[in-house]
Amino acid sequence: MQKIIILDFGSQTTQLIGRRVREMDTFCEILPYNKFPFGDPDVIGVILSGSPLSVYASDAFRPDLSGILGRYPVLGICYGAQYLSWSHGGRVEPVGTREYGRAALSVLDKDCPLFKGFEPDSQVWMSHGDSITAIPQGWRKVASTGSVQYAAFEGSFDANGNTVAADSAAGAGDGSAAGSAKAWGVQFHPEVVHTLQGKLLLENFVVGICGSRREWTSDSFIESTVAELKAQLGDDKVVLGLSGGVDSSVAAVLLNKAIGSRLTCIFVDHGLLRKNEFHDVMRDYQGLGLNVVGVDASERFYRDLAGITDPEQKRKIIGGDFIKVFDEEASKIQDVKWLAQGTIYPDRIESMNITGKVIKSHHNVGGLPKTMQLRLCEPLKWLFKDEVRAVGRRLGIPEHLIGRHPFPGPGLAVRIMDDVTPEKVRILQEADAIFINALREWKLYDSIWQAGVILLQDRSVGVMGDERTFESAVALRAVTSVDAMTADWADLPYPFLQKVSNDIINKVKGVNRVCYDISSKPPATIEWL
Ligand code: XMP
Repeated sequence: MQKIIILDFGSQTTQLIGRRVREMDTFCEILPYNKFPFGDPDVIGVILSGSPLSVYASDAFRPDLSGILGRYPVLGICYGAQYLSWSHGGRVEPVGTREYGRAALSVLDKDCPLFKGFEPDSQVWMSHGDSITAIPQGWRKVASTGSVQYAAFEGSFDANGNTVAADSAAGAGDGSAAGSAKAWGVQFHPEVVHTLQGKLLLENFVVGICGSRREWTSDSFIESTVAELKAQLGDDKVVLGLSGGVDSSVAAVLLNKAIGSRLTCIFVDHGLLRKNEFHDVMRDYQGLGLNVVGVDASERFYRDLAGITDPEQKRKIIGGDFIKVFDEEASKIQDVKWLAQGTIYPDRIESMNITGKVIKSHHNVGGLPKTMQLRLCEPLKWLFKDEVRAVGRRLGIPEHLIGRHPFPGPGLAVRIMDDVTPEKVRILQEADAIFINALREWKLYDSIWQAGVILLQDRSVGVMGDERTFESAVALRAVTSVDAMTADWADLPYPFLQKVSNDIINKVKGVNRVCYDISSKPPATIEWL
């Protein structure tokens, strides 16, 4: 399958570039800046990402681009553009103040294939502290903005990666003729929505210049993955832990299509799920024809969590118990050889950790039971979340499973501010059901990334009828986000909040006060613990 390689120099938007390329039905791989897959015959083009670094800094990433330039069309974005230019003798200098925000782009070369279809003064998004003040000899300026002279430029290369005069490059125009290819640099960010024609620019590059045949679709993914799974697994038996979430559900249905009942799914109820979730999800899974074992282990989890207030300790206990329960159930299956997991592409990209700064560490409840000696099967490891959902829809998984909000593995335990008891879980389950059902009824559910209720530690005084009450307070949390790395509190309508608050206080015994959490991430996090 044709692919675009995105070399990652540590930018926050590298994943976004990947998603945009995939939106063009084109497969792409994000790799560390110095790990280009030389010799891979499927590569049709290369994108160099942005970076928090300066090209002239001593710790800058400066891979050798010979072997890439001249062989493939290359698009450098922000740092990628600066590095392209700088590494060939162009000049990059700090600008007095960081250029951040919208700018109007004037395309100077109307025939440049990268800007085909661009409107005059098209809005682009800048975010850089360095600027290109001179491009290498023999390269051409293609576009400018009011304050950025070299907003876009191009260079042409022979097969050895040496600059050739722009006009004499074979294949000028599509940039991909045998024996030569062009490189473009853009100082702005075409991958973000504020660059209004950014998608067009990337499409011009991926489809127009690199010649993508648009082969990467849900159907082609399902077909090739099912064939690969059949070949990989043969007659082996596979076990998979279901969580009720979209990733493990899609992985299970895909595997079921490949190997049928040789897949056993295990769904553990740790007693910290939402109201009726265990039964509802079991019913859904059975409806999908999955061979699923449901295990109610809630008593064991409650027992081991008794008196524990520290959040990390709660997570550890839940993780440990989960593995034990899973292990016990899996060992009842004769001759199981594989453990399947719903790992998706962002989980793997984020652990590449290009700049050495961990932005998000992954909390996984499961993990491979050490004693089990199973091989790992990860059928979704190349998919972004939106692709997992699209594949799930094609596989016929019901919409309410596909569109579910994320839910933490340790469940309601991380929404109870002190120790976990069945009574506190009951309060949260009731309050959460009221909140979530109301979001659905008011048609707000799908515009929210994630929502839930937190049970606070302190009790407060209230009055109900003529009685004084001294009961718990809960906080409602609802956020919008694209990837959970940053999140904004959701601007829910007052009448909605009023209704939810009334319902919770009237119907959930033990709660007399409801607050709404208006903190964004950062500096807060989505969960309170
Ligand atoms: P935070 O609270 O870090 O959450 O902003 C980001 C996303 O991760 C989920 N989350 C967890 N998921 N185990 C999980 O499987 C955990 O321990 C855990 N803690 C937070 C959270 O619900 C949100 O979607």
